[in-house]
Parts: sequence; structure tokens; C-alpha cells
Amino acid sequence: MNKATRKAVIAGNWKMNKTPAEAAALIEEMKPLVKDADCEVVLCVPYVDIAAAVEAAKGSNIKIGAENVHFKASGAYTGEISAEMLLACGVEYVIIGHSERRTYFGETDQTVNLRTLAALNAGLKVIVCVGETLEQRELGYTETLLKFQTKMALTGVTKEQLKNVVIAYEPVWAIGTGVTATDDQADEGNGFVRAAVAEAYGAEAAEAITVQYGGSMNAKNADGLVDKINVDGGLIGGASLKAADFAVIVKAASK
Ligand code: 13P
Repeated sequence: MNKATRKAVIAGNWKMNKTPAEAAALIEEMKPLVKDADCEVVLCVPYVDIAAAVEAAKGSNIKIGAENVHFKASGAYTGEISAEMLLACGVEYVIIGHSERRTYFGETDQTVNLRTLAALNAGLKVIVCVGETLEQRELGYTETLLKFQTKMALTGVTKEQLKNVVIAYEPVWAIGTGVTATDDQADEGNGFVRAAVAEAYGAEAAEAITVQYGGSMNAKNADGLVDKINVDGGLIGGASLKAADFAVIVKAASK
């Protein structure tokens, strides 16, 4: 197996943007632009937009994802949403461990792992985010950190379940900053993630797993990034809020 046989996934992460009506309108705008995609197209939207997004995406090649999930099946967890609830709403993917959740909401490698297990056990596909801060990079810890985060997130995940796992390498310093990793930096980071999967699951599983790049990916730089051997698509923030830009990125990953 090689890059050509791996599934590229272009996923939008809308973060805290769009009302349900705005979400439906944006998806309607995107549908004709991405309909010929030769990659998986996913939009991860705020919880309150899920119903409208699922409805708008019906009959198209756009899959709907959530931006987080709780690790318990039910109970006294005010404000939280379970994997089963997401599935019942038509959600197929969920982002786990985004750096914004790690930074602002106390997400740890342990809770990332618990959420990953809960989502996979319920039947969702996961997009697990890993990435180093600028300080960690400058201290020379990028490889160590990416391998550690990857292995921690996947602890207890079976080889079979790994087929439902996408990992997104998102250098924290590149998120929302307009500073994109160079094509080679993205390739190297994704390579560290893939190497961690090889260490834990073997070479074949590592070759098969989809590893995205994320961090200021846009219509202009997507081409070079997704051409890299270890980059299987992207997790897109800001540019996924603009139909035309998102469509260009989908096209770049469809070559
Ligand atoms: P930007 O594309 O806005 O930098 O965000 C990247 C990201 O965090 C995707 O999850």
C-alpha cells in the first residue's frame, strides 16, 4: 500500500462559527463545488448545527462530523454530548483532542484517549489531533511529542478499529496564525505520526492510515501540502468557512 491507495480526507473544522441557517446555506453552496471529489469530504460543525447540516448534506458526498464528544455513554455530565447521541443525529466523524480543546478546556492525552475509545466503540470515525507548540519545536521535542500523543490517543484501540481512525497533525503554531508549516515540515510531522503507528501496530497499518495536515491550510498552499507523500488531505479551519476556497482544497486532494 502507498499514498495512492490511502484515502485522503479533507475535513472542515468550523469551530464556533455559523448558526443552523448559515450552516445549511454554506453546505448548499458547497455541494455542487465538491460533488466530483475523489477524496472524502467532511464538515465538522457545532453541535447545534448538526441537524441542519445533516439535512442539507443529504444525498451529497459531504459527510457531517462533530467537533468533540464526551467519553461517557450517558449520565450527569451537564453540557456534554455522547457518541450515541451524535450517531443518532447522523454524524459520521468526530474531531478529538483539537489543540484549542487541549489549551482552553483542559483536554489531556488521557481524556483524548477516553474520547477516542468511546467514539470508536460507538461506531463513529475519529479525527484525532496531535501537534507541538512552537516552544516544544524549538526545544527539539517535535518527534518525541508527536509519537507520544499519537500512542497515548490510540491506547486500547484495536487494529480493526484503526481503520476508523484519521490522525491530523496540527502544529499549534500554525493554527489560525496564517503561518503554515512548509510542505517539508508537514511531511516530516505526518511521518512522525505514521512512524508511531508503525511502532504500535506494524508497517502495514501505518501505510494504510490517513494522516492529515492542519494549520492555516488554504486555497493557495493546499496543492503543495497534499502532494507530499505522508500528507493524506487536511483539516481546515478558516478556509472551510468559504465555499470556493474549500472547494479548491478538495480539488487539490482529488488529483
Ligand atoms: P486554520 O485552518 O484556521 O488555521 O485552523 C486549523 C485547524 O485548527 C483545523 O482544525
